Amino acid sequence: MAGSTFGTLFRATTWGESHGAGIGAVVDGCPAGIPLKASDIQKYLDRRKPGQSRFTTARAEADQVEILSGVFEDTTEGTPISLLIRNTDQHSKDYSNLKDVYRPGHADFTFDSKYGFRDYRGGGRSSGRETAGRVAAGAVAAAFLKELGVTVEAYAKSIGPFSVPDNLINYEESLNNPLSLPDQEIYKKAAEWVDTVRGDQDSAGGIIECRIKGLPAGIGETVFDKFDAVLSQAILSIGAVKGFEIGDGFLAAESRGSENNDSFSNEDKKILPVTNHAGGVLGGMTSGAPVIFRAAVKPTPSIAREQQTVDINGVPRSLTITGRHDPLIVPRAVVVVEAMACLTAADLMLRNMTARIDMIREFYNNLV
Ligand SMILES: Cc1cc2nc3c(=O)[nH]c(=O)nc-3n(C[C@H](O)[C@H](O)[C@H](O)COP(=O)(O)O)c2cc1C
Repeated sequence: MAGSTFGTLFRATTWGESHGAGIGAVVDGCPAGIPLKASDIQKYLDRRKPGQSRFTTARAEADQVEILSGVFEDTTEGTPISLLIRNTDQHSKDYSNLKDVYRPGHADFTFDSKYGFRDYRGGGRSSGRETAGRVAAGAVAAAFLKELGVTVEAYAKSIGPFSVPDNLINYEESLNNPLSLPDQEIYKKAAEWVDTVRGDQDSAGGIIECRIKGLPAGIGETVFDKFDAVLSQAILSIGAVKGFEIGDGFLAAESRGSENNDSFSNEDKKILPVTNHAGGVLGGMTSGAPVIFRAAVKPTPSIAREQQTVDINGVPRSLTITGRHDPLIVPRAVVVVEAMACLTAADLMLRNMTARIDMIREFYNNLV
């Protein structure tokens, strides 16, 4: 299966199926000398782990990461970092009624159309479980970014119709409630609504917002590999993400140029945009302002409510899904968005180092 690798210099490959022996990632191109322990990666995985609240699937995976290579004495070696997470709580029998039938909203029909074969247990490679490998790899990228003073923070901007206005966003609060909403009051209302949706044997969606802080100006390539273009690929590659916008995004289409342009200032002898309608990227390169983007996440496709579909022979079937599923993907996808943002920033920062002969000359002059 092609397309399991992301990045050019800082490369992450994820592998594994939902109900196989395990899943994981190989990170290649991570520089040597970065402090890294399994517990640094575990912190990220624990935020994605299932079974943590009534809003996530009851699958009780420990999601313990093992570092198989590339780290010696808690320091990266510059060699491929291989990360393994064993699957421990598969209930493959739950999926036997899905063997010959196509779930509406999931990848069953399209996977069969492409390969003529599908691992129907838990969605196989199309399962949300694949994202555990991304989170493990993203944690390595975060350790690299930390060395350079770059931080990445994501939270739920909205759940269903409940949205947190910009002036009420409190990132710390998003770490304290199981919907990852950055406001207590809106959390309470949204939680009640999600309970109602779940009671209706249905599911809900929402929007994840993410901020990348500390990037210098000029990161990202100018044509096909623009910072926002690569970032959108990273984010749209997450299952259930259906929309991506940066800065004012779709709202910019309603603005006038005079409203949308960010003026520059030179306070403290540092040129920076005063406002940030662009979301921190101009012409594909970072502006020095925080990169701010959003991902729209659809409602979980696997719902307990009876649905009409067809089987692999095209015969109409009614379907009731009994496996364990997230009533809402957003809370567990927050850290997946962070991980993909880390991988994007790490790769484009490394790529930026080849942009100028003066930098290359300085690097080699320092070696002699
Ligand atoms: C963290 C995470 C958890 C997910 N959990 C489930 C789930 O429990 N049940 C389900 O049907 N889909 C789940 N999904 C979504 C499916 O993987 C996704 O909808 C499916 O692969 C179809 O792809 P598409 O929605 O991008 O078109 C999850 C996705 C993520 C990122």
